[in-house]
Amino acid sequence: MGVVQKVREARGPSAVALPGSLKKSAGDRLVGTAVDDRALQDEPGYRENLIGQFSSVTPENAMKWAVLEPERGRVDWKGADRLVDFADEHGQAVRGHTLVWFGQNPGWVDALKGDELRQVVREHIRTTMERYGRRVGIWDVVNEPFEDDGKRRQSVFQRELGDGWVEDAFRTARVADADAKLYLNEIGAEAPGPKSDALFALVKQLQAGGVPIDGVGFQAHFTRDGVPDGFRANLERFAALGLDVAITEADVALKLPAGRAALRKQARTFRDTVETCLAIPRCRSITFWGFTDRHSWIPATQPGRGTATLLDEELRPKPAYRSVLKALRRR
Ligand code: XIL
Repeated sequence: MGVVQKVREARGPSAVALPGSLKKSAGDRLVGTAVDDRALQDEPGYRENLIGQFSSVTPENAMKWAVLEPERGRVDWKGADRLVDFADEHGQAVRGHTLVWFGQNPGWVDALKGDELRQVVREHIRTTMERYGRRVGIWDVVNEPFEDDGKRRQSVFQRELGDGWVEDAFRTARVADADAKLYLNEIGAEAPGPKSDALFALVKQLQAGGVPIDGVGFQAHFTRDGVPDGFRANLERFAALGLDVAITEADVALKLPAGRAALRKQARTFRDTVETCLAIPRCRSITFWGFTDRHSWIPATQPGRGTATLLDEELRPKPAYRSVLKALRRR
């Protein structure tokens, strides 16, 4: 009694008619986007585009450990439930993102040691996966385990548990869900080089040890420099291991203000990204890290850069949107 459910105000621009549907043009590949939980709640235009354009959704932050369990034992599933309910309602796949990552962990996890940490990580994987069961078919089990030089990143997991934490996470995930696609996701490993080589060696080692891994995700956070040389060949060598690959977080950050030439160059980079995936039969999905400049992580994390997505802040299509649509239709 007396508790008034706050009615959320509808905000944001209305959706404008787009010249097509990305998801309908993509054949049997999934086209996805990261979803901003606030926009999902407050912005009808945003929701309309999500429904019309995408066959897959990834919670941008709502399934990160710091959001799910800010204090030990106080678990808050609201945002994650909202995303999964929405996806169910609209027949979309969900990429669960992400179970074990150095970033966005609650302070209490970062403070754990040794065996206790190991048990807590296992429990976190189990409870999160079991809550959603078949409703989440793909999981980024491990995210960003490497530094750019190919050394393991010094996360709490690496420091306390040693190299074996990656294997342990995949084995735990398989026990929690026998059918889910289990992914290893990495940033900045698109081109051949120390990081990508380390990732490749790790995948081979996991496979040799019988560790259940189904796919490798390449985030594809690009800039005006375009897609790196060797992108396609690099994805192909992973696919040749008998795995699926995926583009999991594509965006193209530009220096602000971005002029027409920069936006055209951006469109080509998005096109190349999509075409690279389409050229590889085992590349199953292309996910963008947000689809409108209203909600993109770039301005907050890379000051002076932005306009990194397909639609502008008013949900109008940029050249990038048109080039992605065209590339999908040419498939
Ligand atoms: C980012 C989100 O977009 C931001 O909102 C948040 O503040 C930080 O994390 N690689 C990943 C994503 O795997 O989870 C990150 O998302 C971007 C880089």
